Amino acid sequence: MAHPTDGSRPSSARIYAHLLGSTDDTHGADREAADMLVSAFPSIRDAGRANRGFLLRAVREIAAAGVTQFLDLGSGLPVHPNVHDVARTLHSGARVVYVDNDPAVVSHRQATVDGDGVVTVDGDLRDPKEILEHPRVRATLDFDRPIGLIAVAVLHFVPGDVHAVVASLRDALAPGSHLAVTHACSETMSEEEIKIGEAIYQRTSNPVNLRTRAEINALFDGFDLLPPGLVPPADWRPVAPEFEPYPERSHEMLAAVGALSR
Ligand SMILES: C[S@@+](CC[C@H](N)C(=O)[O-])C[C@H]1O[C@@H](n2cnc3c(N)ncnc32)[C@H](O)[C@@H]1O
Repeated sequence: MAHPTDGSRPSSARIYAHLLGSTDDTHGADREAADMLVSAFPSIRDAGRANRGFLLRAVREIAAAGVTQFLDLGSGLPVHPNVHDVARTLHSGARVVYVDNDPAVVSHRQATVDGDGVVTVDGDLRDPKEILEHPRVRATLDFDRPIGLIAVAVLHFVPGDVHAVVASLRDALAPGSHLAVTHACSETMSEEEIKIGEAIYQRTSNPVNLRTRAEINALFDGFDLLPPGLVPPADWRPVAPEFEPYPERSHEMLAAVGALSR
């Protein structure tokens, strides 16, 4: 599948890394796009940080449920702590596959993060079969045991029938697997925010596809939503402030974790 990233346009991975405060890995076009986003609707920085806080709490909770292997889709650039860092605080041998369709993200991760039981592969969510059949995915993860499927701040970059994409991933998972999602919501943003956000991401390698609350909820078909259900990221199982590196609140995305019981 052709890569949507051509290097000359800003990428969502580097815009996001810039929003999180990473000074590496961004170049002029990314900083310009991130700065435009922040000046157009300043809450976007908090949205990125609240999203990252959810990701870390969700991985911790999934690992606490006994899951020792993770498939992190649309992993983005490494930001410490990464998924494997959090999972390994509970299971020292936790295995993690990172997937991204941005070649710069993949090569950066492979050079800096990959190691024993931690692997980054080039894959595109628009072709979930290719991800599921990737030899390095199969060699690292045991699909007969539960997997934590992480699709955080990525499914809104997948156009078209994203529910079919998630369903085909779900159908490959063993009972006890979990799905963690955040997704930009068309019902929680103002019309002005939607207009500006869509216009800016349109100029990047990852145009954004907003979905309704019901459409985001339907991504969890076949999963049992864990309490508190589908909520703003900061409201998903908040922890005491001294344990939360990203205390920001946001309204642009909705977040949830589901467990596969069948
Ligand atoms: C905003 S970053 C999210 C990073 C990380 N998941 C997090 O929430 O902290 C979105 C990432 O998804 C990747 N991405 C976008 N569309 C994708 C697709 N169709 N398949 C795989 N990765 C994709 C981008 O390259 C980028 O690295």
